[in-house]
Amino acid sequence: MTPYDINRKTVVITGASGGFGSELCRLLINEHGCRVIGIGRSREKFEELSQSLGDRKNKFRYVLFDVSVRENWQKFAGKLEKNGIIPDLLINNAGIMPPFDKFENEDGETAKNVMDVNFMSVVYGCEAMIPLLLRSAEGGIVNVASSAAFSPVAGTAVYSASKGAVKNFSQALCEEMRGRLYVGCVFPGFSKTGLFRDNGLTEDDQSFISGLGTDKADIASAIVRGIAAGRKLIVCGKDSHMMTALSSVAPSASNSLYTKIMTESDLEMFRRLK
Ligand SMILES: NC(=O)c1ccc[n+]([C@@H]2O[C@H](COP(=O)([O-])OP(=O)(O)OC[C@H]3O[C@@H](n4cnc5c(N)ncnc54)[C@H](OP(=O)(O)O)[C@@H]3O)[C@@H](O)[C@H]2O)c1
Repeated sequence: MTPYDINRKTVVITGASGGFGSELCRLLINEHGCRVIGIGRSREKFEELSQSLGDRKNKFRYVLFDVSVRENWQKFAGKLEKNGIIPDLLINNAGIMPPFDKFENEDGETAKNVMDVNFMSVVYGCEAMIPLLLRSAEGGIVNVASSAAFSPVAGTAVYSASKGAVKNFSQALCEEMRGRLYVGCVFPGFSKTGLFRDNGLTEDDQSFISGLGTDKADIASAIVRGIAAGRKLIVCGKDSHMMTALSSVAPSASNSLYTKIMTESDLEMFRRLK
């Protein structure tokens, strides 16, 4: 493992307007002297983030676009090039998750959207940015997957598939780029962020996520520590460590165990799995 010097880098982060993304922006700017270009769709959330950076807000800029559209990435990379900006690190973090439900109740359109935002955005982002990242003295790509990539559970069939795709894509890319770019993949566990907004969480649901999961700022710190150590696979959050460890020795048992915990709970967010 070759350490990656994260300090004073120019970092592009997708999904930077909320959740892990905005925590990563704060950490990289405040603690590591990075310049960050955030990508997302909400101007309002970005303005809030920018204000929260105080004196350091000049280290942050944002660009509004939908990461699931290939042309948007091409335009973005073209603008960076035109302005002479060489990014060092791309963090593909944007993602969505439909409410927990059985696949038989979902439709192909929703599934396509999940694959486009969670997986194709990573492919398009890498396609457009690799030529620029290769010009950096220490270029890198970090893709955010999920513990669901190791341990897919009921109610998340398409989401888990999209994260499995991110994992395999990242691992293959890592081999291809060996010695030229650092490539890492992140596997967070549960964390209370905007990801579950469409589940209409009750107080009990929220307590479950907070109790089992890890605070989003701690996830962001673990991601940055993993990058600095040059890890290829960055597992973060106590539940993710548990799920990945169990799934490596007993994959089917691990999937069934977590599904049982979810379906036998009285939680509103898992009610469609019964
Ligand atoms: N929270 C968890 O428990 C958990 C666990 C495992 C993995 N993850 C993964 O961690 C990553 C970050 O999620 P989070 O938990 O921080 O969720 P979040 O709070 O909902 O943040 C997701 C971000 O993605 C952006 N986004 C969504 N669709 C987009 C699109 N089409 N184009 C551009 N930006 C888009 C959103 O920005 P706008 O609203 O501005 O578009 C938002 O800032 C995701 O990949 C997620 O799958 C999360």
